[in-house]
Amino acid sequence: MDQLEIKSAQGNYQVYFTDNVRDAKSQFDRYEATHFIIDRKVYEAHQQALDSLINGSSIYFIEATEETKTLAGVAELSTWLQGNGANRSSRLVAIGGGITQDLVTFTSHVYYRGIPWLFFPTTLLSMCDSSIGAKCGINLNEFKNQLGVFQSPHAVFTCMQFLESLPDFHISSGYGEILKLYLTGGDWDLLENLQSALQSGLRTPNLRELIKTSLKIKKGIIERDEYESDLRRVLNYGHTFGHSLEKVTNHEIPHGLAVAWGMDLINFIAVKRNLLSERRFLEIREVIKNKLPFQLRSSVSPEDLIEGARKDKKTDKTGVNLIFLNDLGSLEIKKVSFDERLFQEISDYLKNHNVYAGR
Ligand SMILES: NC(=O)c1ccc[n+]([C@@H]2O[C@H](COP(=O)([O-])OP(=O)(O)OC[C@H]3O[C@@H](n4cnc5c(N)ncnc54)[C@H](O)[C@@H]3O)[C@@H](O)[C@H]2O)c1
Ligand SMILES: [Zn+2]
Repeated sequence: MDQLEIKSAQGNYQVYFTDNVRDAKSQFDRYEATHFIIDRKVYEAHQQALDSLINGSSIYFIEATEETKTLAGVAELSTWLQGNGANRSSRLVAIGGGITQDLVTFTSHVYYRGIPWLFFPTTLLSMCDSSIGAKCGINLNEFKNQLGVFQSPHAVFTCMQFLESLPDFHISSGYGEILKLYLTGGDWDLLENLQSALQSGLRTPNLRELIKTSLKIKKGIIERDEYESDLRRVLNYGHTFGHSLEKVTNHEIPHGLAVAWGMDLINFIAVKRNLLSERRFLEIREVIKNKLPFQLRSSVSPEDLIEGARKDKKTDKTGVNLIFLNDLGSLEIKKVSFDERLFQEISDYLKNHNVYAGR
């Protein structure tokens, strides 16, 4: 079976790539599975295939909303695990997107001081990005991903079949993170590949290859800096204002598209500060505008976006550490203060250049 090994201080693990759950089953059967945590929508769409995997084990169903990945969500899942006799020899199996993953990663880390977990990502975003790297974030009050841990999965099973039921809107969201990784990985050929793959539509036959390339780029970074002490911080490119936008719009925009928008905004600021050429900014903007379009329902204010950024984990009293793209594959972390200049740049972007502005 096609696979990619991820090296981790917590134990190396494999990402298996298959077309469908049936093919993944033979590998999966090597692991002793006990408790399944499944996104309800995924179960409903793929029940027959999943029942063969679950084989009568207990299932906890997830409603994948941001309210689920909170301390209350962790408490509810932990209580269910306790009620179902989960102990240190139990193994959790998460089947869903990033929300299911974040909830299960956190819970598996704290339940009995840590029990193993396996993951079947079911969204493009989780397949191409979040499934590797061990990181998770759960929300605290109205702020995203404020609590988190690093807990590697024991294995990841990427089955393309799941994408058949995923709405286009969420497929586009996955492309937002693919674009981020391709820009981080950095050569123009990568971007051209992405653009030409997208010519045949969002569900291009090359999608599996695009996912693998994204994971290989991320692997190159996380294997050198698993715990985000330095290098890995570049993976937050587009995320500071992307998270702000998610919050301001009450999650009307999915994560990956918020990141695409956040990259466009930060690139705009980078041009103003002579950190990026206008030509590159426009080239990347073309990809976002034409291939990953989105329209915000209402306008957002610079005050709200800055307020959101103040709650970012990369913020301290003197400002926020923003990730700037200098060129393809070359990123720079710079401390920026919340001053009039930043306010004006964001205002100008929102008024005159907002790539997702409503018409
Ligand atoms: N831990 C990380 O490294 C990391 C990285 C990126 C994003 N995230 C987090 O992941 C979350 C977003 O995750 P996501 O975009 O993968 O999706 P999601 O888990 O938010 O799911 C999106 C929607 O799609 C549905 N769905 C999932 N799979 C489906 C399928 N195969 N068919 C039909 N419907 C399906 C869900 O029920 C939900 O309605 C955010 O909370 C984000 O902060 C975490
Ligand atoms: Zn992200």
